[in-house]
Amino acid sequence: MQYRSFGKVDYRVSALGFGCMRLPTLGKPEQIDRQQAVEMLRYAIDHGVNYIDTAYPYHGGNSERVVGEALRDGYRQRVALATKMPCWMVEQPPDFDRIFAEQLQRLETDRIDFYLLHNLQAKFWEKMLQLGALEWMQKKRAAGQIRWLGFSFHDSYEVFQQIIDAFDWDFCQIQYNYVADEVQAGIKGLKYAAAKNIGVVIMEPLFGGTLASPPPPVQQILDQSPLRLRAADVALRWLWNQPEVSVVLSGMSNMEQVEQNVDSACRSGAGSFTADEQQLIERLRAEYKRLNPIPCTACGYCLPCPNGVAIPDNFMLYNNGLVLGGNTQMLSRATYYFMPPEKRAAQCVACRECEARCPQSIEISQWMPRVHEELSRPVPGLTDAQSS
Ligand SMILES: NC(=O)c1ccc[n+]([C@@H]2O[C@H](COP(=O)([O-])OP(=O)(O)OC[C@H]3O[C@@H](n4cnc5c(N)ncnc54)[C@H](OP(=O)(O)O)[C@@H]3O)[C@@H](O)[C@H]2O)c1
Repeated sequence: MQYRSFGKVDYRVSALGFGCMRLPTLGKPEQIDRQQAVEMLRYAIDHGVNYIDTAYPYHGGNSERVVGEALRDGYRQRVALATKMPCWMVEQPPDFDRIFAEQLQRLETDRIDFYLLHNLQAKFWEKMLQLGALEWMQKKRAAGQIRWLGFSFHDSYEVFQQIIDAFDWDFCQIQYNYVADEVQAGIKGLKYAAAKNIGVVIMEPLFGGTLASPPPPVQQILDQSPLRLRAADVALRWLWNQPEVSVVLSGMSNMEQVEQNVDSACRSGAGSFTADEQQLIERLRAEYKRLNPIPCTACGYCLPCPNGVAIPDNFMLYNNGLVLGGNTQMLSRATYYFMPPEKRAAQCVACRECEARCPQSIEISQWMPRVHEELSRPVPGLTDAQSS
């Protein structure tokens, strides 16, 4: 494993951190395959990963529980543990203590190493200031229950800069990858935080998995390149090539992914990318931009839709079948046809409740009619498809 500096934080952090938002499941998101998840987490730790990231809502609250289980038998002492205060759930100051106590219990620990205000956007930031979140975090640090203070972020660069400047943060967590390097905090935010000696944790490095399973036109570029690189490997090492990056979280869903990403991390390093690799990234990025899919990462923050629409599923069918150049238009349309009617894009009433929660700022209500129009076109053999 390679280890990296973490801004002003006195902790040599592994290049790869384990993001516990996409653990293997037994079907439903809240039903984690505990045995497999524990094996994966322990494999990663045995191979040098020393940063584990979870949060109160992941897997319906079960991510923290499974992490607690995985860190039994001495594993807790070998890692730094990160979890987050769900800002949107805090309505009054006593909620901070109540939620935090529950997290300690779930995680079977008496201290959180890296504690974040989760999903800061302008409106949650205002609320956190009003409710005294910063004072509360400082009190917890003084009491030895939190070591380092940070926040995760989903808003514009301007809001990011404002939050960074407002407090003496130890670290922050931003979405950043080679196709989304200029959205939200972006590369400007990465450099701004690093220049202030604030550690930067990267989330969604593979854009929720999209960059690991490229559409055919992008895959073709990789296949034709003499470098013979795996899609996930090149995307991750592009991040580690940047000295401002402290740790890259990957949400790994099976053991093979853990093995591969550990291997990539071992071969990583700031400044280790070759000119040919950089050129390859430019070509991949340009191709993604040309295809222009809906930038949904299936994080699920938009859910539940008050009207029952399965928002990420609809976007995935649209992207995979119609935008990314696969040979799957008919498959996408057929899947849409068989989707329970109440979950289809057609049910969107444009209330826009989901848009306020979408970290990618997708104009969901504007996309839905278009998605429905495309996906509800007739499929040979399913003659009444148009009426659905
Ligand atoms: N604080 C926040 O607001 C926030 C928001 C988002 C994420 N996060 C944190 O950041 C972590 C990382 O984000 P993310 O989970 O979106 O990470 P990501 O690495 O962008 O996406 C993870 C997905 O990529 C695919 N993948 C990973 N390694 C692969 C490999 N070697 N080969 C092929 N596919 C691979 C898997 O998709 P498949 O399952 O499709 O195989 C996996 O579920 C999260 O787990 C969470 O801890 C925080």
